[in-house]
Amino acid sequence: MATKVPVFNSDCSSLLAKYLSQQVFSQLEDKVTTSGYTFKQAINSGLVNQDSGVGVYAGDAESYTMFAPLFDPIIADYHNFNPHDSHQSNLHFDELFGLNPDPTGKYILSTRIRVGRNIADMPLGPALSRQQRRTIELQLAKTLTGLSGELSGNYYSLGNIDAETRKQLIADHFLFKAGDRFLDAVGLNRDWPEGRGIFHNLEKTFLVWVNEEDQLRIISMQPGGDIKAVFSRLVKAVNEIEVSVPFLFDQRLGYLTSCPTNLGTALRASVHIRLPKLGDDLITFKAITDHHQLQIRGTSGEHSVSEGGVFDISNKRRLGVTEVECVQDLYDGVVELIEREQELAINVDLKK
Ligand code: ADP
Ligand code: ARG
Repeated sequence: MATKVPVFNSDCSSLLAKYLSQQVFSQLEDKVTTSGYTFKQAINSGLVNQDSGVGVYAGDAESYTMFAPLFDPIIADYHNFNPHDSHQSNLHFDELFGLNPDPTGKYILSTRIRVGRNIADMPLGPALSRQQRRTIELQLAKTLTGLSGELSGNYYSLGNIDAETRKQLIADHFLFKAGDRFLDAVGLNRDWPEGRGIFHNLEKTFLVWVNEEDQLRIISMQPGGDIKAVFSRLVKAVNEIEVSVPFLFDQRLGYLTSCPTNLGTALRASVHIRLPKLGDDLITFKAITDHHQLQIRGTSGEHSVSEGGVFDISNKRRLGVTEVECVQDLYDGVVELIEREQELAINVDLKK
């Protein structure tokens, strides 16, 4: 007799819960990829964490084909991308329209753009062995410390960073946190902190996270709202790293990442922006971010809350849109958010 499909809490709204039917579960429950990644591992995070938005992770490139009866509808739903759509890349930062949506610096505290990347011919993080993870760290530390000019910097293995420095790097938004329960449930925290680390230049405007959720998170960031400067530094870094590190890429799905939300461009362009009035008018706030396909996160990133009226605003879609379009979405949305925030402030002043 077929095993019964897992039951979700009544308030669970994950895409896993939405698309894991009895039929899909019966079709996939015993499937294992060639790197030994099982369907049960792929769905475990969403079962353990019923507050997941998505709930699944891939363990390798093959997961995206073998588990397609579940993954394809999740990908279509999240990215508005259908199985026959194709993905195009465009890293020509000169095609971005607009420079800085906040030239006076009143609203935007900082801008950050990151892409996720993984290494060709390797499993993704959830299915990596301890030895493979160590090999990747060594390879990346060597490549990254060979970069020059504005990109030159040092690599710090997580285990060698003292607790105080680590805490400060996280508080300053430069380093990933430990113990993420979503990653934990898919085995992405195995052997922690071994094999993980951070590379950064002196100014901390160019950083690379090694072996967190993806093998590389390439990050460009700086204070203020000069989105184009941040984007152009990112493109330069990605192009230089790719010369010595072949990235895992799929014709249909673009750059492959462990979480389906990051497929395609794997790009999240964000601003930390002070919007106290909109923060008090969430209906208007959400209407604008939904219109521009933007996501609202808290001040310390995903699954955090906003502090002091500061929000993390970023593009939601990453697949089926080019890198330039992802960044343009952010730019256009931020222009409108600032306009609306100014109007709300004037209305409050008039009422006084
Ligand atoms: P990711 O960007 O990798 O998807 P998170 O949402 O966890 O992941 O963010 C990682 C870190 O980057 C957090 O400390 C977050 O506050 C910080 N961050 C994100 N956007 C910005 C920004 N525009 N300026 C400064 N820090 C940022
Ligand atoms: N697995 C988590 C969830 O479903 C995170 C999804 C997106 N975020 C990420 N860091 N990949 O809510």
